[in-house]
Amino acid sequence: MTGFPADILSCPQCGAEALAPGDGASALACKACTTRFPAIDGIPWLVADPEAILGEWRDRLHRLVLELQKDAERVRAELEGKGLRTATRSRLKLLAGAYGDHARRLQALLSPLSIADKQIALETHLALRTGLPPGQDLTSYYVNLHRDWVWGEEENESSAALNADLLAGKPPGRMLVLGAGACRLAYDLHRGLHPELTVAADINPLLLLATRRILCGEPVSLYEFPIAPRRLEDHAILRRLAAPEAVDGNFHLVFADALQAPFREGRFDTVLTPWLVDIISADLAALAPRINRLLKPGGRWINFGSLAFSHREAALCYTLEEALEVVADSGFECIGQRETSMPYMRSPASRHARMESVVAFAAAKRAAVAQPMAHRHMPEWLQDEGQVVPLLPQFRMTAAATRIHAFVMSLIDGQRSARDIAGVLVAQRLMMAEEAGPAVRAFLLRMYEDARQQ
Ligand SMILES: C[S@@+](CC[C@H](N)C(=O)[O-])C[C@H]1O[C@@H](n2cnc3c(N)ncnc32)[C@H](O)[C@@H]1O
Repeated sequence: MTGFPADILSCPQCGAEALAPGDGASALACKACTTRFPAIDGIPWLVADPEAILGEWRDRLHRLVLELQKDAERVRAELEGKGLRTATRSRLKLLAGAYGDHARRLQALLSPLSIADKQIALETHLALRTGLPPGQDLTSYYVNLHRDWVWGEEENESSAALNADLLAGKPPGRMLVLGAGACRLAYDLHRGLHPELTVAADINPLLLLATRRILCGEPVSLYEFPIAPRRLEDHAILRRLAAPEAVDGNFHLVFADALQAPFREGRFDTVLTPWLVDIISADLAALAPRINRLLKPGGRWINFGSLAFSHREAALCYTLEEALEVVADSGFECIGQRETSMPYMRSPASRHARMESVVAFAAAKRAAVAQPMAHRHMPEWLQDEGQVVPLLPQFRMTAAATRIHAFVMSLIDGQRSARDIAGVLVAQRLMMAEEAGPAVRAFLLRMYEDARQQ
């Protein structure tokens, strides 16, 4: 699965068509901006600011492993409790063992991210919020692995059939799947439609590292933790994830951000965005021109999913009609559209399952369009760590709030009551006597609930 055709890649950092084999540690290097890009378990890591982004994913993995170990400890402590029912005891034993084993398996699978030397404590991770917004954490789309490679046959077949239908019998040529996840759709279309080349791109190392093995014919064993387990033994199930057969050499995986895709202009005949456009952090109106750039004239963009946009700005949460207008304004002609119901993440071990009404469209590139400004994951002052951090008004406010938070937390010393703590805040002139009591009670209750959740 290595060895991209030399003529498709460009530098995600500066955009130059100047990537060349790198030296020792780096798989590729840009001859224009000199950025070096590593390969992680043989998969090129072609994202802007490669080392910084890799560092962020390593932190996330480290935090996840610590959290799982803590979960295992917490459940083991529950097992010490008296009067547990026999079935409850069996369930807790299953979970305690599975959490610990899951942490070990993830660490082994993701060993190419090398976290063995990490020293940060879980408290520091929590304070520095090393986790990402929920949409982009390591395990955000973890269930996709199980659906794609264990039990999702009905959904996988429906998805492949819907996409193949929109391709309408015309060969996909060079095909790019953006946000490919655990890659089952890319794999099924690759095997069924025989594109000249398939490139499956995603930003999530857990999904792509597991997928790489599966696609090479090396099954992976990972736990499934269903949302609503049917039976006791369904609370943690060690599943074997395997592909029907290994893929051929025209199938390539790459770590890449759809908003900074490391490909030259007009190199693909087909671009697929399955379940991506509504979860990505950018406006569809900024993504669509980028997809246009990747396609040859006449090339096709196939999109499908439920269009459940969740941007903070209501204006960006498009209806299907609005989304199709955005697509048309981005140089495309809509040449096919379907709407159908299909199962979504229907695990046989869970009572929780969804049916989704899925919309799909095919759009042909009719004109090139102006490109949005280069997407930057970080502000300019963070791209160069030597630059001064600006004292933004929000930072000033958060700093003050954090100092007060730390002060109130420091008053919890195993001696003081809620009334004592309120008294200190009044003495320090942080609030009036009549405000302090309710405020401290509400604060302590929230801290207590947070502590129980952690
Ligand atoms: C809802 S999942 C869909 C996965 C897969 N397409 C499927 O249909 O099962 C969204 C995927 O997009 C990926 N993703 C999110 N933001 C991305 C970005 N900026 N560039 C590339 N992939 C991204 C996530 O890691 C995740 O695998």
